[in-house]
Amino acid sequence: MKPVIAICPGSYDPVTYGHLDLIERAARVFDRLIVAVLRNVQKEPLFPVAERVEMLKEATREFENVEVDVFEGLLVDFARRKNAGVVVRGIRAVSDYEYELQMALMNRKMEPRLETVFMLPAETFSFLSSSLVKEIARLGGSVQGLVPPHVEERLKAKVS
Ligand code: PNS
Repeated sequence: MKPVIAICPGSYDPVTYGHLDLIERAARVFDRLIVAVLRNVQKEPLFPVAERVEMLKEATREFENVEVDVFEGLLVDFARRKNAGVVVRGIRAVSDYEYELQMALMNRKMEPRLETVFMLPAETFSFLSSSLVKEIARLGGSVQGLVPPHVEERLKAKVS
């Protein structure tokens, strides 16, 4: 059987323990996992893409079948270039579902051979998002236990 290549796309601004939980689960299921960082053109990210990639590489280096890459433009085009057959997205709560469903069906319309697989991160991370982590850090709160220590350091440096 052909090895299954999956993509875990996102903004990762910055990577959280919720993302890492999902990456670990997906890495167990698929032969190769490409964590793909979106080079956001409209959004104003806190971290430039190079820094988001560095943090992800550091956080995922224990997973042998995981690599970190950057993409811009359509996800379906990136998936075609990488010969990936699966997109993995995490659903934390029912509220995520509507947007994820819309995206998955639109991606399917553009590329019917690309399957979207939804996975559930550990329920302990169901409240966690990069946006909240950034807000807490900006307002001087602790993000310990929400992101890896090296990300915590970078967040502190960024908002100080
Ligand atoms: O971490 P995020 O911000 O929820 O990730 C969203 C992401 C990167 C998966 C989504 O915005 C995306 O795939 N963008 C690439 C552009 C694209 O393909 N748009 C059409 C989606 S139907």
